[in-house]
Amino acid sequence: MSKDKLWGGRFTQPTDKFVEEFTASINFDKRLYSQDIRGSIAHATMLGRQGIIPTEDVTAIVGGLKEILRQIEAGEFDFSVALEDIHMNIEARLSAKIGEAGKRLHTGRSRNDQVALDIRLYLRDELQEIAEYLDRLIDSLLFQAEENLDVMMPGFTHLQTAQPILFAHHMLAYVEMLKRDKGRMLDCYKRTNVLPLGAGALAGTTFPIDREYVAELLDFPEVTRNSLDSVSDRDFGLEFCSAASILMMHLSRFSEELILWSTSEFKFVDLSDGFCTGSSIMPQKKNPDVPELVRGKTGRVYGNLIALLTVMKSLPLAYNKDMQEDKEPLFDTIDTVKGSLKIFADMIREMKVRPERMLEAAGAGFSTATDVADYLVRKGMPFRDAHEVVGKAVRYCVDNDMDIPELSLAEWQLFSLMIDADIFDAITVEASVNARKATGGTAKERVKAEIARARAEQ
Ligand code: ARG
Repeated sequence: MSKDKLWGGRFTQPTDKFVEEFTASINFDKRLYSQDIRGSIAHATMLGRQGIIPTEDVTAIVGGLKEILRQIEAGEFDFSVALEDIHMNIEARLSAKIGEAGKRLHTGRSRNDQVALDIRLYLRDELQEIAEYLDRLIDSLLFQAEENLDVMMPGFTHLQTAQPILFAHHMLAYVEMLKRDKGRMLDCYKRTNVLPLGAGALAGTTFPIDREYVAELLDFPEVTRNSLDSVSDRDFGLEFCSAASILMMHLSRFSEELILWSTSEFKFVDLSDGFCTGSSIMPQKKNPDVPELVRGKTGRVYGNLIALLTVMKSLPLAYNKDMQEDKEPLFDTIDTVKGSLKIFADMIREMKVRPERMLEAAGAGFSTATDVADYLVRKGMPFRDAHEVVGKAVRYCVDNDMDIPELSLAEWQLFSLMIDADIFDAITVEASVNARKATGGTAKERVKAEIARARAEQ
């Protein structure tokens, strides 16, 4: 019956059962129980300190809420759909336990500022955890870079062999991306870390509340400055979903490479058995399920961003029930990102690289053509002309089914008499890699310095 509801006063008819289920959020917002209780304890403490409710009531409220927390954690709490959401489930239980005092808790507060607080408290902790998960994956990448510092592989553009690079350099490219991802998470943390409680339903409250004190109790460095915005802002959730989408985009690119590298055609890496599965029909198969799934899960994280953007689009100020739809995309994004990062950190650490295969591929596909051109430039030829000369040499190789390392000096000299015997040392895979010494390049000494730099930041 509607009169059993915390808001039942103005109703005469009971809520339709299906409407009740349709509008309830308890099945997903129960995740916010500890944040809800923490926020309520701070709110009650402030109400008592300001003389808005009696201090004996505060004691009863805090005791009751702590008992409810214990019950939820012990799995002894019956969540009720009729009570709609986590806020009313907890408040109704509190009043049932301690009577009158429990009914004073909601003084000067609304579920609108309460839910905004709960999500911010929740996301704040998750953002920090995600930053730690990012560090763990960065650590695995640095581990692989350090362990394989001499391993050379082909670098690609258009997925065609381009120039030789260090495998470690490739790992460090992902370190850079993940460091930016971490920066975005911590940046989002700053804007999430603001106290919205005290906005009331939308306009503030008539009671002499002390928001700064509540902020202190809940470790918020700032309070929001406009009550309408406080209850209707979900920018912080959108920022998180955007940062998460970019992060998943990075993981999906890495996934794609790992999938490719572990094919029998490439054979650059072996993912450990624990991260792969077999086929029910083809006995030879070892499928890279983990990177495939992470690549696939990128879709839902993008979807969550679009869902939340669409929920918020065109909503008039201030709170609208539409906003209850913010939680599932947020929670799903948090779970997906954490799961993907965790599994990637372990998978990368255990991955085995195949240096011989990579080196073989690194020297093939005319990978040192640019080095020949650079060689001619060092001998005095303008780069454009050198490009032309080497292009002709490559054409010659293609026609004769050869590759650059196989050309004799006599053959080189068909294309330019500026080429001498020292060409051979200039176009080994190792020389090619180690010649790229400027900041950001793939030379071993440079990569070593970048590993040290990344380690120092960890
Ligand atoms: N369950 C609601 C939500 O998640 C809490 C706020 C409800 N406020 C309201 N005026 N109905 O958004």
